[in-house]
Amino acid sequence: MLSTINRMGSVTFQLAVLCIITLYSQAESESAELYALGNKFFDWRMSERPLQATKRNIYNYNDDLEVLSLDKLKDNKAVADDMMSQLRNISVEDLDGADMTSYSILYDMLNTFIEGYSFLNYSLNPVNFMEGIQRNPLAFVNMMPFNTVGDFENYIARLQLLPQQLKQMESLMLEAIRRNTTLHKVSVMRLERQIELLSVGDVTKSVFFLPFITLKDSSIPGQQWSDIRRHGYEATRKLLQSYRMFLNWLRAMYIPRTRRSYGVNKDYYEACLRWYTSVNITAEEVHELGLKEVERIKERMSEIMERQNFTGTVAEYFQSLSEDQRFFKSSPADILQEFRDMIKHRINPYLPEMFYEMPKFDIEVVPMMSDGPAGRYSRPSPDGSIPATFIANVMHPRNMPVYTFMSLAMHEANPGHHFQISAAMSANTPRFMKYMEHPHYYQAPYAFPAYSAFTEGWALYAESLGEEFGLYRDDYELMGRYSSEIFRAGRLVVDTGIHYYGWDRDQAIEYLLNITAKGRPFIEVEVDRYITWPGQACSYKIGELTIKKLRKMAEEKLGDQFDIREFHSSVLEYGYKPLHVLTEKLKAWTANQVDTVSTRSTSSHLQIHTLTCLIVTIVTCLYTRLV
Ligand SMILES: *[C@@H]1O[C@H](CO)[C@@H](O)[C@H](O)[C@H]1NC(C)=O
Ligand SMILES: *[C@@H]1O[C@H](CO)[C@@H](O)[C@H](O)[C@H]1NC(C)=O
Ligand SMILES: *[C@@H]1O[C@H](CO)[C@@H](O)[C@H](O)[C@H]1NC(C)=O
Ligand SMILES: *[C@@H]1O[C@H](CO)[C@@H](O)[C@H](O)[C@H]1NC(C)=O
Ligand SMILES: *[C@@H]1O[C@H](CO)[C@@H](O)[C@H](O)[C@H]1NC(C)=O
Ligand SMILES: *[C@@H]1O[C@H](CO)[C@@H](O)[C@H](O)[C@H]1NC(C)=O
Repeated sequence: MLSTINRMGSVTFQLAVLCIITLYSQAESESAELYALGNKFFDWRMSERPLQATKRNIYNYNDDLEVLSLDKLKDNKAVADDMMSQLRNISVEDLDGADMTSYSILYDMLNTFIEGYSFLNYSLNPVNFMEGIQRNPLAFVNMMPFNTVGDFENYIARLQLLPQQLKQMESLMLEAIRRNTTLHKVSVMRLERQIELLSVGDVTKSVFFLPFITLKDSSIPGQQWSDIRRHGYEATRKLLQSYRMFLNWLRAMYIPRTRRSYGVNKDYYEACLRWYTSVNITAEEVHELGLKEVERIKERMSEIMERQNFTGTVAEYFQSLSEDQRFFKSSPADILQEFRDMIKHRINPYLPEMFYEMPKFDIEVVPMMSDGPAGRYSRPSPDGSIPATFIANVMHPRNMPVYTFMSLAMHEANPGHHFQISAAMSANTPRFMKYMEHPHYYQAPYAFPAYSAFTEGWALYAESLGEEFGLYRDDYELMGRYSSEIFRAGRLVVDTGIHYYGWDRDQAIEYLLNITAKGRPFIEVEVDRYITWPGQACSYKIGELTIKKLRKMAEEKLGDQFDIREFHSSVLEYGYKPLHVLTEKLKAWTANQVDTVSTRSTSSHLQIHTLTCLIVTIVTCLYTRLV
């Protein structure tokens, strides 16, 4: 009798173990399948976008360029459909939290692309003054390694493919002409100058020829090197010729057929808004949010101006500061030093109050080599051999008042982009999440998203942390912060103004001139950018407002128990994500914190739970024994 009971008990135990193993391996295999699919997706994307691969130190496609064609665009939809059906085949019940997030993100990327397909007609203009190799040819050259003969051969192969790609662009743009979906003239006007700059008369003075001027590594024998140079010269010469032909084509065929209206079709516009913001938001909602934010920030600026007894407008206020030597650094070296000191002595000491996890690598401040925005962030290589850098524009010290430095440093460096990107890079996530492809904005919404509402929203939120933790040391720095913020809010108003409410270019320019301290040339480029990329400029503020809303929700639910450092960990965890995934994640986090807090406050909860478990176990045992 006794032995029978024992044997029964043992069988029960074995069954239970078997049951657990089965469940576990079910989860394991679903997880492995998801991981494999994520990698397949990433490999596909890298093979389609050779330049993106090279930038991520994936050198398998260094001799290749993207194929631009209508057939390719159509084929990609079928590939995405196929991957989606494979993804749907994975059973989500078996995935844990981290895998569930990966699943949601891959699902969102594929789904966004597939839904975007209905706007294929608007994805046919692959070049504009913000996009294309002509915009930053140095980046095209510098991303490549130049050590071995093979490296040079790869680069020459790319130079030889470029003329073909320009022809492919023409075909696509002809298709855009046929379908009545060309860009506005302001999107391509500056192309003429950009291309003219490339096609210098002397081939050896071309940016594309730079790698052939001096050999870094002398391991290549002299005869081979002169062959390489000769091929490089020939490829560059042909390429410059192709660019000149492309420019002629642009002038003769495309520019006369550019679209008349500044704004685009409203359905297409709202699809772009959803694509960039990764939330379901309408143009009217964005516009209202913008107006409200502009008023709120204006109010803050007025308070400061009143405190300083200044009676003019915001523009006049900044005008008056622009004549004050105190606010300017005289040399590039001084600007860089100011940023370095600021990050080291004024920002970094506060970071432990905001975060539990710090980036693996420090950030370095370096000067920008060609003109561009006031600052930019560049990620480190995974092993840190290429450092993370905050690239500061030091070309126009007179346009860089020091009271704008703090918000810029917090945005680009700590705790803005550097913290977000570092968290993404060190997360234990599939490659498609860690090294997300940078999309062609001209293809939106028929493109894979990279969640700029999250990344730029985070960076703008980081600027606001400076205010909360008292990092802006005086009213001038606060005005610098507000001027950067109101600019982002104003974008919501004018972007929707142009594409939804029929504003013309001048009205948009005047609106931004009225509320910001920026000069007309700067604002004109900005507005042309909004005309070129409908909806893109709205991602920053929408992302920031979403993070702030989620934080407020958590603070209200958690009261004293709210820990800002844990909140930040949860926001940054797993890296890039769409705002709707972020929202679900933070809701779950908050609910979980509430549970933890209540467990902490009444430990009897735990005792009851243990007791329940005990009873269930006993009953189960009795039951199996009876059977
Ligand atoms: C879905 O899974 C089933 C069973 O594992 C398999 O037979 C089928 O081919 C899968 N479908 C896709 C699209 O992967
Ligand atoms: C795209 O353009 C083609 C050709 O002009 C037209 O037949 C088709 O209806 C358009 N598709 C959409 C979704 O607008
Ligand atoms: C082209 O599109 C615009 C809207 O962008 C529209 O007003 C115009 O009628 C269209 N032209 C043709 C020929 O379809
Ligand atoms: C987006 O909003 C519209 C209008 O409120 C609604 O009809 C639609 O179902 C929403 N879509 C999603 C994906 O939430
Ligand atoms: C502003 O004016 C008031 C009253 O005239 C004066 O007390 C105050 O010091 C002034 N503030 C500044 C910053 O000049
Ligand atoms: C700019 O400001 C002026 C003066 O306050 C005002 O008349 C004008 O309507 C404003 N422009 C826009 C586009 O808001």
